[in-house]
Amino acid sequence: MLITEKTSLKQGNIDIQIEPKNSSFTPYNGFDKPKFYGRRKGRTIRKAKSTLLEAFLPEIKITDKSVFDKNKLFGKPVEKVALEIGFGDGQHLAGQAKNNPDTGFIGAEVFQNGVANLLTLITGIKEGSHLPEKINLEEGRVDNIRVFDDDIRLLFKQIPNNFLDKVFILFPDPWPKKRHAHRRFVNPDNLTEIARIMKKGGILRIATDHKIYKGWALRQVKENGNFVWTAKCGNDWKKEPADWVQTKYQLKALREGRRPVFLDFEKI
Ligand SMILES: C[S@@+](CC[C@H](N)C(=O)[O-])C[C@H]1O[C@@H](n2cnc3c(N)ncnc32)[C@H](O)[C@@H]1O
Repeated sequence: MLITEKTSLKQGNIDIQIEPKNSSFTPYNGFDKPKFYGRRKGRTIRKAKSTLLEAFLPEIKITDKSVFDKNKLFGKPVEKVALEIGFGDGQHLAGQAKNNPDTGFIGAEVFQNGVANLLTLITGIKEGSHLPEKINLEEGRVDNIRVFDDDIRLLFKQIPNNFLDKVFILFPDPWPKKRHAHRRFVNPDNLTEIARIMKKGGILRIATDHKIYKGWALRQVKENGNFVWTAKCGNDWKKEPADWVQTKYQLKALREGRRPVFLDFEKI
């Protein structure tokens, strides 16, 4: 269902306006490399993190040989599988994986410094730490994270239908200018793929601190037609969900006076 007019979205005691304008997207044909507009590299990566990227990332990295089976993809069989797209510095991914040892987490991130930071969080190896000959996960963690260190759109086709119980897209780059709207990650093509790889009853969580992105995401997901927004009252989307782990961009938004929203959608 394409929303062509300004629409009031009502459910429970929620009543919000969503904008009609949609941008046209060129579907990714699966052959060319999709265009990525963010940063791939930042500051020079120092010794400990470089070592983690070279010596430890290959052990948990997703490649074209990875087998998408709950019993084989991770270091141990898992009950559920979640995907975090654009995990940034990795705080949420590292925290969720620790809190949910029976769930396997796939994290996708293009920004190399972010990937390196995640590796620091899960191994406990920081700059200046002694670098052991064999790098392991920090004590108390199970081997339930796999990392795709590139654009998630390149991985979608490898993920089978109905594979994921949860998908997190947290504080995606808002690309607030109208002429950049086609760069927003929550768009018809990506939602089609996400709906395909998610199980019925699974939860897609989108968090944002951006006013435009909030309405944008609600509209895109509604238009996709495979999800229902679970919120019934303000607390259901203006407060952190019970299983939430704070992220770097969330904290930045709060410091700068912007209030994030947390949109949970159930796959139907
Ligand atoms: C604004 S940051 C938010 C990071 C993190 N989720 C947080 O809340 O702190 C958005 C992140 O998404 C990543 N990203 C954007 N598009 C992506 C894609 N197609 N595949 C993987 N990562 C992507 C960017 O590299 C960036 O690190």
